[in-house]
Amino acid sequence: MDVDTRISIRDVGKIYGAGRKQVEALKSVDLDIRDNEFVCMVGPSGCGKSTLLRIIADLQRPSSGVVEVATTAHVVRPSAVVFQDYSIFPWKSVSENVRFGLIAQGLPKREVEDRVKLWLAKLGLSAFADSYPSQLSGGMRQRVAIARAMVVESEILLMDEPFAALDAQLRRLLQEELLSLWQDMRRTVLFITHNLDEAILLGDRVVVMSGRPGRVIGDYTVPFGRPRDAGIRGSGEFAALEQELWEQLRHEVTGEDPKGAAA
Ligand SMILES: Nc1ncnc2c1ncn2[C@@H]1O[C@H](COP(=O)(O)OP(=O)(O)OP(=O)(O)O)[C@@H](O)[C@H]1O
Ligand SMILES: [Mg+2]
Repeated sequence: MDVDTRISIRDVGKIYGAGRKQVEALKSVDLDIRDNEFVCMVGPSGCGKSTLLRIIADLQRPSSGVVEVATTAHVVRPSAVVFQDYSIFPWKSVSENVRFGLIAQGLPKREVEDRVKLWLAKLGLSAFADSYPSQLSGGMRQRVAIARAMVVESEILLMDEPFAALDAQLRRLLQEELLSLWQDMRRTVLFITHNLDEAILLGDRVVVMSGRPGRVIGDYTVPFGRPRDAGIRGSGEFAALEQELWEQLRHEVTGEDPKGAAA
Protein backbone atom coordinates (compact mmCIF):
# COMPACT_ATOMS: atom_id res chain seq x y z
CA MET A 1 0.00 0.00 0.00
CA ASP A 2 1.25 3.51 -0.86
CA VAL A 3 2.25 5.70 2.08
CA ASP A 4 -0.63 8.10 1.58
CA THR A 5 -3.23 5.43 0.82
CA ARG A 6 -5.69 5.12 3.69
CA ILE A 7 -8.09 2.55 2.26
CA SER A 8 -7.10 0.00 -0.36
CA ILE A 9 -9.74 -2.22 -1.97
CA ARG A 10 -8.47 -4.97 -4.22
CA ASP A 11 -10.58 -7.27 -6.35
CA VAL A 12 -13.39 -7.33 -3.79
CA GLY A 13 -16.43 -9.49 -4.46
CA LYS A 14 -19.47 -10.20 -2.33
CA ILE A 15 -22.03 -12.93 -2.86
CA TYR A 16 -25.06 -13.17 -0.58
CA GLY A 17 -26.90 -16.43 -0.02
CA ALA A 18 -26.44 -19.68 -1.84
CA GLY A 19 -27.90 -21.72 -4.67
CA ARG A 20 -30.75 -20.19 -6.65
CA LYS A 21 -31.20 -17.42 -4.10
CA GLN A 22 -27.63 -16.30 -4.57
CA VAL A 23 -27.09 -12.59 -5.21
CA GLU A 24 -23.80 -11.30 -6.50
CA ALA A 25 -23.66 -7.81 -5.00
CA LEU A 26 -20.07 -6.82 -5.83
CA LYS A 27 -17.66 -8.08 -8.42
CA SER A 28 -14.00 -7.27 -8.63
CA VAL A 29 -14.07 -3.84 -7.03
CA ASP A 30 -10.78 -1.95 -7.04
CA LEU A 31 -10.49 1.40 -5.29
CA ASP A 32 -7.87 3.39 -3.41
CA ILE A 33 -8.72 6.25 -1.12
CA ARG A 34 -5.92 8.53 -0.01
CA ASP A 35 -5.44 9.99 3.42
CA ASN A 36 -7.78 12.96 4.04
CA GLU A 37 -9.45 12.51 0.71
CA PHE A 38 -13.21 13.01 0.36
CA VAL A 39 -14.48 10.39 -2.08
CA CYS A 40 -18.11 10.31 -3.18
CA MET A 41 -19.63 7.17 -4.64
CA VAL A 42 -22.65 7.06 -6.92
CA GLY A 43 -24.33 4.09 -8.56
CA PRO A 44 -27.72 2.53 -9.22
CA SER A 45 -29.84 1.22 -6.38
CA GLY A 46 -28.83 -2.28 -5.36
CA CYS A 47 -25.34 -2.16 -6.89
CA GLY A 48 -23.68 -2.92 -3.58
CA LYS A 49 -22.64 0.51 -2.29
CA SER A 50 -23.86 -0.09 1.26
CA THR A 51 -22.34 -3.55 1.15
CA LEU A 52 -18.96 -2.09 0.24
CA LEU A 53 -19.23 0.49 3.01
CA ARG A 54 -20.01 -2.20 5.58
CA ILE A 55 -17.05 -4.25 4.35
CA ILE A 56 -14.73 -1.24 4.78
CA ALA A 57 -16.16 -0.66 8.28
CA ASP A 58 -15.34 -4.30 9.06
CA LEU A 59 -19.00 -5.02 9.83
CA GLN A 60 -19.14 -7.58 7.05
CA ARG A 61 -16.62 -9.75 5.23
CA PRO A 62 -16.01 -9.82 1.49
CA SER A 63 -16.49 -13.16 -0.33
CA SER A 64 -13.24 -12.52 -2.17
CA GLY A 65 -10.54 -9.92 -2.40
CA VAL A 66 -8.80 -7.78 0.18
CA VAL A 67 -9.58 -4.54 2.00
CA GLU A 68 -6.77 -2.86 3.83
CA VAL A 69 -7.26 0.13 6.10
CA ALA A 70 -4.18 1.92 7.38
CA THR A 71 -4.65 3.03 10.97
CA THR A 72 -2.58 4.48 13.74
CA ALA A 73 -1.74 1.76 16.23
CA HIS A 74 -3.56 3.16 19.28
CA VAL A 75 -6.89 3.72 17.52
CA VAL A 76 -9.76 1.67 18.92
CA ARG A 77 -12.12 2.22 16.01
CA PRO A 78 -10.55 3.41 12.80
CA SER A 79 -13.86 4.31 11.20
CA ALA A 80 -17.19 5.81 12.21
CA VAL A 81 -20.33 5.23 10.17
CA VAL A 82 -23.46 7.24 9.44
CA PHE A 83 -25.94 4.67 8.15
CA GLN A 84 -28.48 5.05 5.38
CA ASP A 85 -31.44 4.74 7.78
CA TYR A 86 -29.67 6.88 10.38
CA SER A 87 -30.74 4.92 13.38
CA ILE A 88 -30.52 7.00 16.50
CA PHE A 89 -31.98 5.67 19.72
CA PRO A 90 -35.45 7.11 20.36
CA TRP A 91 -35.22 6.37 24.07
CA LYS A 92 -31.98 8.27 24.55
CA SER A 93 -31.69 12.05 24.69
CA VAL A 94 -29.66 13.93 22.09
CA SER A 95 -26.58 14.14 24.31
CA GLU A 96 -26.90 10.45 25.30
CA ASN A 97 -27.10 9.52 21.64
CA VAL A 98 -23.95 11.46 20.86
CA ARG A 99 -22.17 10.11 23.94
CA PHE A 100 -23.01 6.61 22.73
CA GLY A 101 -20.51 7.12 19.91
CA LEU A 102 -17.77 7.16 22.52
CA ILE A 103 -18.76 4.02 24.40
CA ALA A 104 -15.98 1.45 24.40
CA GLN A 105 -13.37 4.12 23.72
CA GLY A 106 -12.23 4.05 27.34
CA LEU A 107 -11.81 7.82 27.51
CA PRO A 108 -11.75 9.70 30.81
CA LYS A 109 -15.22 10.96 31.78
CA ARG A 110 -14.13 14.57 31.53
CA GLU A 111 -12.93 14.17 27.97
CA VAL A 112 -16.13 12.37 27.00
CA GLU A 113 -18.20 15.29 28.29
CA ASP A 114 -15.97 17.88 26.58
CA ARG A 115 -16.16 16.12 23.26
CA VAL A 116 -19.92 15.62 23.43
CA LYS A 117 -20.33 19.33 24.19
CA LEU A 118 -18.01 20.31 21.37
CA TRP A 119 -19.80 18.26 18.72
CA LEU A 120 -23.27 19.24 19.91
CA ALA A 121 -22.17 22.84 19.48
CA LYS A 122 -20.62 22.27 16.06
CA LEU A 123 -23.85 20.72 14.79
CA GLY A 124 -26.05 23.41 16.33
CA LEU A 125 -27.58 21.01 18.83
CA SER A 126 -26.52 22.52 22.16
CA ALA A 127 -29.99 23.82 22.96
CA PHE A 128 -31.44 20.36 22.28
CA ALA A 129 -29.01 18.34 24.41
CA ASP A 130 -31.77 17.05 26.68
CA SER A 131 -34.44 16.65 24.01
CA TYR A 132 -35.51 13.27 22.68
CA PRO A 133 -35.48 12.37 18.98
CA SER A 134 -39.29 12.41 18.79
CA GLN A 135 -39.18 16.11 19.72
CA LEU A 136 -36.82 16.94 16.83
CA SER A 137 -37.30 17.64 13.14
CA GLY A 138 -35.85 15.22 10.57
CA GLY A 139 -32.95 17.58 9.94
CA MET A 140 -32.13 17.79 13.63
CA ARG A 141 -32.25 14.02 13.97
CA GLN A 142 -29.85 13.71 11.11
CA ARG A 143 -27.52 16.20 12.77
CA VAL A 144 -27.57 13.94 15.84
CA ALA A 145 -26.51 10.96 13.71
CA ILE A 146 -23.69 13.01 12.21
CA ALA A 147 -22.57 14.33 15.61
CA ARG A 148 -22.51 10.77 16.92
CA ALA A 149 -20.16 9.74 14.13
CA MET A 150 -18.01 12.88 14.32
CA VAL A 151 -17.56 12.73 18.11
CA VAL A 152 -15.50 9.57 17.67
CA GLU A 153 -12.93 11.71 15.84
CA SER A 154 -11.99 8.62 13.91
CA GLU A 155 -9.55 8.73 11.06
CA ILE A 156 -12.17 7.54 8.60
CA LEU A 157 -15.76 8.63 8.22
CA LEU A 158 -18.11 6.42 6.22
CA MET A 159 -21.40 8.05 5.26
CA ASP A 160 -24.18 6.13 3.54
CA GLU A 161 -26.65 8.54 1.93
CA PRO A 162 -26.76 10.64 5.08
CA PHE A 163 -29.01 13.34 3.60
CA ALA A 164 -31.32 11.20 1.48
CA ALA A 165 -34.34 11.54 3.74
CA LEU A 166 -34.21 15.33 4.03
CA ASP A 167 -36.17 17.87 2.04
CA ALA A 168 -34.27 19.78 -0.63
CA GLN A 169 -33.64 22.96 1.38
CA LEU A 170 -32.51 21.17 4.50
CA ARG A 171 -30.33 18.94 2.41
CA ARG A 172 -28.53 21.92 0.91
CA LEU A 173 -28.04 23.41 4.34
CA LEU A 174 -26.50 20.22 5.74
CA GLN A 175 -24.33 19.80 2.64
CA GLU A 176 -22.90 23.25 3.21
CA GLU A 177 -22.40 22.54 6.90
CA LEU A 178 -20.58 19.29 6.17
CA LEU A 179 -18.44 21.03 3.57
CA SER A 180 -17.19 23.64 6.02
CA LEU A 181 -16.92 21.12 8.87
CA TRP A 182 -14.72 18.91 6.76
CA GLN A 183 -12.60 21.79 5.54
CA ASP A 184 -11.93 22.72 9.17
CA MET A 185 -11.06 19.24 10.19
CA ARG A 186 -9.94 16.93 7.44
CA ARG A 187 -10.73 13.23 7.57
CA THR A 188 -10.75 10.45 5.07
CA VAL A 189 -14.36 10.21 3.93
CA LEU A 190 -16.32 7.80 1.78
CA PHE A 191 -19.70 9.36 1.09
CA ILE A 192 -22.39 7.46 -0.77
CA THR A 193 -25.13 9.39 -2.52
CA HIS A 194 -27.59 9.18 -5.40
CA ASN A 195 -27.30 12.91 -5.90
CA LEU A 196 -24.69 13.92 -8.49
CA ASP A 197 -24.80 17.58 -7.50
CA GLU A 198 -24.06 16.63 -3.89
CA ALA A 199 -21.20 14.36 -4.98
CA ILE A 200 -19.49 17.14 -6.95
CA LEU A 201 -20.05 19.79 -4.30
CA LEU A 202 -18.50 17.69 -1.54
CA GLY A 203 -16.01 15.34 -3.14
CA ASP A 204 -12.41 15.49 -4.26
CA ARG A 205 -13.30 12.54 -6.46
CA VAL A 206 -16.51 10.95 -7.65
CA VAL A 207 -16.47 7.19 -8.19
CA VAL A 208 -19.18 5.67 -10.39
CA MET A 209 -20.38 2.10 -9.84
CA SER A 210 -22.01 -0.16 -12.40
CA GLY A 211 -25.35 -1.87 -11.89
CA ARG A 212 -25.26 -5.12 -9.88
CA PRO A 213 -22.84 -6.76 -9.51
CA GLY A 214 -21.23 -3.45 -8.68
CA ARG A 215 -17.77 -2.57 -9.83
CA VAL A 216 -16.02 0.74 -10.40
CA ILE A 217 -16.68 2.02 -13.92
CA GLY A 218 -15.70 5.66 -13.53
CA ASP A 219 -13.42 7.76 -11.36
CA TYR A 220 -13.55 11.53 -11.79
CA THR A 221 -11.39 14.18 -10.16
CA VAL A 222 -13.51 17.16 -9.12
CA PRO A 223 -11.83 20.25 -10.59
CA PHE A 224 -12.46 22.55 -7.64
CA GLY A 225 -9.92 23.28 -4.91
CA ARG A 226 -10.39 23.84 -1.19
CA PRO A 227 -11.78 25.65 0.56
CA ARG A 228 -14.75 25.75 -1.75
CA ASP A 229 -18.29 26.91 -1.24
CA ALA A 230 -21.68 26.18 -2.72
CA GLY A 231 -21.15 28.97 -5.27
CA ILE A 232 -19.27 26.51 -7.50
CA ARG A 233 -22.68 25.12 -8.47
CA GLY A 234 -23.17 28.07 -10.79
CA SER A 235 -20.06 27.36 -12.86
CA GLY A 236 -19.94 25.78 -16.30
CA GLU A 237 -17.36 23.26 -15.13
CA PHE A 238 -19.75 22.03 -12.47
CA ALA A 239 -22.57 21.56 -14.96
CA ALA A 240 -20.23 19.83 -17.43
CA LEU A 241 -19.04 17.32 -14.85
CA GLU A 242 -22.59 16.65 -13.69
CA GLN A 243 -23.61 15.96 -17.29
CA GLU A 244 -20.62 13.66 -17.83
CA LEU A 245 -21.42 11.69 -14.68
CA TRP A 246 -25.06 11.40 -15.66
CA GLU A 247 -24.19 10.12 -19.12
CA GLN A 248 -22.07 7.40 -17.62
CA LEU A 249 -24.66 6.52 -15.01
CA ARG A 250 -27.71 6.69 -17.22
CA HIS A 251 -27.39 3.30 -18.83
CA GLU A 252 -26.62 1.69 -15.47
CA VAL A 253 -29.65 3.25 -13.80
CA THR A 254 -32.19 2.58 -16.53
CA GLY A 255 -30.90 -0.97 -16.97
CA GLU A 256 -31.52 -0.65 -20.71
CA ASP A 257 -29.45 -2.87 -22.90
CA PRO A 258 -27.88 -1.41 -26.04
CA LYS A 259 -30.96 -2.41 -28.09
CA GLY A 260 -33.08 -0.21 -25.84
CA ALA A 261 -35.11 -3.00 -24.20
CA ALA A 262 -35.51 -2.91 -20.42
CA ALA A 263 -33.37 -5.54 -18.70
N1 LIG B 1 -27.85 -9.13 4.14
C1 LIG B 1 -28.18 -9.39 2.88
N2 LIG B 1 -28.61 -10.61 2.49
C2 LIG B 1 -28.94 -10.88 1.21
N3 LIG B 1 -28.85 -9.97 0.23
C3 LIG B 1 -28.43 -8.73 0.54
C4 LIG B 1 -28.08 -8.36 1.87
N4 LIG B 1 -27.71 -7.07 1.89
C5 LIG B 1 -27.81 -6.65 0.62
N5 LIG B 1 -28.25 -7.64 -0.20
C6 LIG B 1 -28.45 -7.54 -1.64
O1 LIG B 1 -27.23 -7.13 -2.23
C7 LIG B 1 -27.46 -6.16 -3.25
C8 LIG B 1 -26.70 -4.90 -2.90
O2 LIG B 1 -27.30 -4.29 -1.77
P1 LIG B 1 -26.77 -2.91 -1.17
O3 LIG B 1 -27.67 -2.55 -0.06
O4 LIG B 1 -25.33 -3.02 -0.87
O5 LIG B 1 -26.98 -1.92 -2.42
P2 LIG B 1 -26.92 -0.33 -2.50
O6 LIG B 1 -26.08 0.00 -3.67
O7 LIG B 1 -26.53 0.24 -1.19
O8 LIG B 1 -28.44 0.06 -2.83
P3 LIG B 1 -29.23 1.41 -2.46
O9 LIG B 1 -28.69 2.48 -3.39
O10 LIG B 1 -30.66 1.10 -2.77
O11 LIG B 1 -29.00 1.73 -1.03
C9 LIG B 1 -28.96 -6.00 -3.32
O12 LIG B 1 -29.46 -6.82 -4.35
C10 LIG B 1 -29.46 -6.46 -1.99
O13 LIG B 1 -30.75 -6.99 -2.10
MG1 LIG C 1 -27.43 1.46 0.16
